[in-house]
Amino acid sequence: MKALTNRLPARALTAFAVVAAAVTGVVAHESTADALANGLALTPPMGFNDWNAVGCGVSEAFIKQTADFIHGHVLSDGKTLQQSGYEYVNIDDCWAQPSRDSHGNLVPNPAKFPDGIAGTAAYVHSLGLKLGLYNDSGLKTCSSHGFPGSFQHEAQDALEFAQWGVDYLKDDNCNQAAGQGTRAATIQRYTAMSNGLAAARSKTGQAIVFSICQKGDNGINTEDWSPQVGNLWRTTGDVKPNWARLDSNIDKNIPLAKYAGPGAWNDPDMLEVGNAGLSATEAQTQFSMWAEMAAPLLIGTKLASATTQTLDVLGNTEVIAVDQDPLGVQGVQISDKGGLRVLAKRLSGGDVAVAFFNETGASAPISTSASAVGLGAASSYTLRDLWAHKTTNTTSSSWTVTVPSHGTVLLRIHPASAS
Ligand code: GLA
Repeated sequence: MKALTNRLPARALTAFAVVAAAVTGVVAHESTADALANGLALTPPMGFNDWNAVGCGVSEAFIKQTADFIHGHVLSDGKTLQQSGYEYVNIDDCWAQPSRDSHGNLVPNPAKFPDGIAGTAAYVHSLGLKLGLYNDSGLKTCSSHGFPGSFQHEAQDALEFAQWGVDYLKDDNCNQAAGQGTRAATIQRYTAMSNGLAAARSKTGQAIVFSICQKGDNGINTEDWSPQVGNLWRTTGDVKPNWARLDSNIDKNIPLAKYAGPGAWNDPDMLEVGNAGLSATEAQTQFSMWAEMAAPLLIGTKLASATTQTLDVLGNTEVIAVDQDPLGVQGVQISDKGGLRVLAKRLSGGDVAVAFFNETGASAPISTSASAVGLGAASSYTLRDLWAHKTTNTTSSSWTVTVPSHGTVLLRIHPASAS
């Protein structure tokens, strides 16, 4: 259990939260998690994962095309997605051959990945981006096609991933061997991979972000132990491009705010922005709430055929700045009046990002106040609407916005007295 003894002096973060809360008076949010001390993912990971876009149909050509797009396609604000912060290009399930080789190594499917994972990583790296890969902590991955899992091959697989140049690993939790679904065995399996990655890093110098995909299976709360073992952990079942699932994932992730902090993030799953099944308003809500909850921003749509509207959501740098704020605090829910919810996220420099989230079936006004969101008295407040890109100054310390059904208004609020 080496990773469990290898903790950050995380109370530095906690001490800051307590002092900040004392100064501002409210949103007394305290990180309780000791994060894995690998120095990675100090802000939530940003990038792409192919699963929501193509499922089991991943290929080297698709990954390279996606990397090219992130690197080279200029959005309407004049920036590429890479310049807006997207960094990881992640390969999900179905990249491997159905069997290990005679040395027990995992083998990339040569028809799908003619240059292997190493060749694909080299290409992605040549664009200044990073490569992610998927594996499973059980006997086989989650796909019904039965690709090999890493159970009892953790150190060997971790070294192979590092030697290939992998920068990010998503470790799933399907198809456990008998007896491997208990809490102790689950923590042990993920700790084995975490330690394997640390050992591989010592040997090769390759640092790998560790994304735990245990999802609370078997009633085992992932947030209790994952911060000490990985950099992020799935807190929900699979996201889908429909409102009920999106809303349910938001609902499950909100109460977990205290577990998040630099290097340790709740992961309510990947983005569905751009995929059929979500309205434009709902897609914008996913992006807003993921930013407010300091969630990883992993694009899950086919970028080559994405509309300008989709790209403008994904490329909204004002919303991205909320997600990526260096303070690394997950927004906290401060009120919920029958599905009219307000969350407040403290930002470095004294601003607060406030999400007005309307879960209901009808447009409605939502109100909050400076004291409720954790801001002290100020002579005036600057309200920046991060979707309308409009700024309003007001001397009022209570604010009401009208929010469409399933919509989110995201305001960055700056008190005049703050720097
Ligand atoms: C699980 C994960 C998904 C995806 C698939 C791949 O369902 O939760 O995110 O990785 O497996 O098979």
